[in-house]
Amino acid sequence: MNEVLQNILTRRSVRAFKEEQLKDEELDLILQAGVNAPSGMNKQSWQFTVVQSKEKMEKLAKVVREALKRDAGYNFYAPPTLIMLSNDRDNTNGLADCSCALENIFLMANSLGIGSCWVNQLKNICDEKEVREVLNSFEIPENHIVWGMAALGYPANTPKAHGRKDGVIKFIK
Ligand SMILES: Cc1cc2nc3c(=O)[nH]c(=O)nc-3n(C[C@H](O)[C@H](O)[C@H](O)COP(=O)(O)O)c2cc1C
Repeated sequence: MNEVLQNILTRRSVRAFKEEQLKDEELDLILQAGVNAPSGMNKQSWQFTVVQSKEKMEKLAKVVREALKRDAGYNFYAPPTLIMLSNDRDNTNGLADCSCALENIFLMANSLGIGSCWVNQLKNICDEKEVREVLNSFEIPENHIVWGMAALGYPANTPKAHGRKDGVIKFIK
């Protein structure tokens, strides 16, 4: 089978991770895949913020839990690495650009046997005071929205594939 399609077909959202940290060489490939995604008008106005400190990830999870009234267990699935994709709020392609980068990240990770999952919870709460304070401490620019995050780590389980809906492709010839 075509290698790219094979990679796409075997990717799953992984929500349980081993503690072991990613190797630096693997993270480097994942970030290269991310920054080489397309961006509207080639603006590349994004930032990839890589969080690998358990303590700082917990600090972020705590303010997200409080803002969204999530239960005590909410921690982005406790991945060893979290990549936060943020973009200039005035870039109307900000979310689309970050989405392209995230999918590249997921596919690169999958090709290396690394699990990943989109974590969505930040985009509507970036300007809550306590959340913005943590974003500031992570050096995420004040004018940025975190459109999505990639939880990354070696998978602790093997999720089943979700079936895909029929009838979503139309040919007009
Ligand atoms: C825009 C977007 C937001 C998502 N947000 C979350 C999320 O916050 N938490 C989560 O566990 N999964 C999230 N997911 C993952 C989806 O639930 C997952 O892709 C879907 O169930 C299909 O499963 P698959 O990725 O294994 O094919 C998100 C996916 C996308 C594209």
